[in-house]
Amino acid sequence: MLYQTTEQHEELRNKIRAFAEEEVKPIAFMLDKNNDFPYDMVKELAKMGMMGIPYEKKYGGAGLDVISYAIAVEELARVDGGAGVILSAHTSLGTYPIYAFGNEKQKKKYLVPLCKGEKLGAFGLTETNAGSDAGGTETTAVLEGDHYVLNGGKIFITNAPIADTYVIFAVTTPGIGTKGISAFIVEKGWEGFDFGDHYDKMGIRSSSTAELVFNDVKVPKENLLGNEGQGFKIAMATLDGGRIGIAAQALGIAQGAFEHAVEYSKERVQFGIPIAHQQINSFKIADMATKLRCARFLIYSAAELKGHHEPYGMESAMAKQYASDIALEVVNDALQIYGGTGYLKGMEVERAYRDAKICTIYEGTNEIQRVVIASHIIGKPPK
Ligand code: CAA
Repeated sequence: MLYQTTEQHEELRNKIRAFAEEEVKPIAFMLDKNNDFPYDMVKELAKMGMMGIPYEKKYGGAGLDVISYAIAVEELARVDGGAGVILSAHTSLGTYPIYAFGNEKQKKKYLVPLCKGEKLGAFGLTETNAGSDAGGTETTAVLEGDHYVLNGGKIFITNAPIADTYVIFAVTTPGIGTKGISAFIVEKGWEGFDFGDHYDKMGIRSSSTAELVFNDVKVPKENLLGNEGQGFKIAMATLDGGRIGIAAQALGIAQGAFEHAVEYSKERVQFGIPIAHQQINSFKIADMATKLRCARFLIYSAAELKGHHEPYGMESAMAKQYASDIALEVVNDALQIYGGTGYLKGMEVERAYRDAKICTIYEGTNEIQRVVIASHIIGKPPK
């Protein structure tokens, strides 16, 4: 499938790029250094109508397509990898399951404020013993009268503890594997819902990541998302879309590092000519540009399939795996072009080098992406 961005897509890109350059870039180093969350950026994105890009206007969204959403994540990540994932985790992971599986009452109560950016969303799937093997969820939700009692914990949750609304996966019927998992909408502030440490991460330090702890949290029955036992499929379907966001984040980080490296290589003179024109570097630049273009095609084509309600799980896994793999190569080459200067704190390529790594790990490691891609082609292994 081919994709072509429209004039509207490019207008949106220009708008987000201008915002990112003016409002995010000047504070990116400070956010990274201090592990600070960009509250004002999120408020501004909400004012711009960018916290619910691919959702219908009737729910407070912008009513734009999935490519528009990918472009927005890409443009934020181009100046700050953490900024990209804040929008991606909110839009794809915190908001999508309520949009796709919520009933109208849940949508009115939770989806609308998320799309308007009045509330920030998050997604709680990963646990200490359930990372790649998400079906190994141990958090439990036991029905008692008109509410479920939630016990357990989640780790590595993007947007926690800042987020207000959490989609949480827990076992409602033990002993039957993935079919025993259900999804719930859980609000920050409910009794027994606490947060663990805010992680001190290697990169994407402007995004906030924390543990969730549930001690006898009473979740009203009406906050069950979909049906009991549908949770694992909700999680998997959500991650299919989330992977487009992470792919776009990886692309944006790599694109930013690439642009810096190109500029630097044109200015830096060694052996009497700009290093850009030494073939070792010009070939590097050509390869980086080619990889970025391939990643962009993969991402926008997966986004287009999703937007057209066609199957896209394999394509989004390919986009996430490829974009994040090449992002590591591109940031590495960018830093190599800078030489020792790029190794210094305060250099964009140094931050991009650290920011890019997580994209090969979260929303399914790139090994899991290959499991997903292969299973679409050859089916699951025989039992
Ligand atoms: N959509 C809908 N249903 C799906 C699905 C999908 N994409 N993928 C699988 N399913 C269904 C299957 O059809 C199956 O249904 P039946 O039982 O009715 O046949 C059921 O789910 C179980 O599927 P599998 O047997 O394939 O499940 P599995 O236990 O073998 O796991 C896996 C498959 C792909 C490895 C999965 O566990 C997985 O994706 N793991 C990675 C988890 C992950 O990505 N975590 C990221 C956390 S969020 C995060 O990282 C965010 C952040 O920080 C920013």
